[in-house]
Amino acid sequence: MKLFFAPMEGVAHHLFRRAQAACFRPADEYFMPFICPKNQSLTHRERADINPENNQGVHAIPQILTNNPESFLWAAQLLCDLGYDEVNLNLGCPSSTVVRKGRGAGFLADPDGLHDFLSEVFSRCPLPISLKSRLGMERPEEFERILSVYNDFPVKRLILHPRVREEQYGGSVHLDWFHYAEKESRAPVVYNGDLFTAQQILEFDESHPMISGIMCGRGFLLHPGLAGMCYGEIESVDKLEAFHAMIYDGYRRDIGTEAFVLMKMKEVWAMLGRGQGLEKKTLKHIHKASRLDAYEAAVKAAMEEIAAR
Ligand SMILES: Cc1cc2nc3c(=O)[nH]c(=O)nc-3n(C[C@H](O)[C@H](O)[C@H](O)COP(=O)(O)O)c2cc1C
Repeated sequence: MKLFFAPMEGVAHHLFRRAQAACFRPADEYFMPFICPKNQSLTHRERADINPENNQGVHAIPQILTNNPESFLWAAQLLCDLGYDEVNLNLGCPSSTVVRKGRGAGFLADPDGLHDFLSEVFSRCPLPISLKSRLGMERPEEFERILSVYNDFPVKRLILHPRVREEQYGGSVHLDWFHYAEKESRAPVVYNGDLFTAQQILEFDESHPMISGIMCGRGFLLHPGLAGMCYGEIESVDKLEAFHAMIYDGYRRDIGTEAFVLMKMKEVWAMLGRGQGLEKKTLKHIHKASRLDAYEAAVKAAMEEIAAR
């Protein structure tokens, strides 16, 4: 079974990915949060995330969010020059600001425009292209037409989150439409959505022998040791401490300002704390910390609580 780490903008940046890979069993491949090339330029943060030096030790695949073929091709050439071996197109982002501009899941509302875009980029892209898609904008039935568009191109793999944009991440996934994709897609299909535990992943893998992999997002935020847990490994407190230290030290080195470091670490704990089943008051101490020394004391208490289990 291949297990892929999902792109998660704002959380699963290079520090998180490298810490996960160094401290626990790594995922097979790491899909990176989207970069959004504008006027042939990237932000400082985007450049840092795709910098190969920041991705040593992980097989990382960059993702592009755009509906402009020239912007896509410019970024793909840059990524090719940096040594990447695949580029992924984001066709799933549900955020209103993205969708309003016809990007991410918003692009799915215009299958003809999407076809034109894919014709252009598949004929000129220096790298193999994979797609990360939802079923559509409003109704899962839209996927029939969307898949017929994808099937016209040599897509390296289709990662499918079987929800429509309107559903964001709520309600149940449409497994019937995932099965449709498994049968009808010319490209190998990867499943993504709502698999949070090793048991769920193993059961899904067992019952879907045709898929070419499973991608997990929030599961890795809840349990950075998720890949190892699929092989019976334990998410020990020593590994969690090392994982935390790598991210925390990285933020202090790269960002510096106390308030920003605290904000980013609290984002990590929002999911990690839930995954570890921390007491409410333990998490509250972490979230209320307004100085690094108070934060470090709260984290020490959290690790002691985990170790005591
Ligand atoms: C905070 C956050 C940021 C995300 N950023 C991206 C992104 O940059 N690109 C992308 O394709 N999907 C993004 N996603 C979607 C995830 O990759 C994934 O499809 C989603 O979380 C469902 O998978 P899961 O149920 O395993 O979490 C994001 C999701 C979350 C929760």
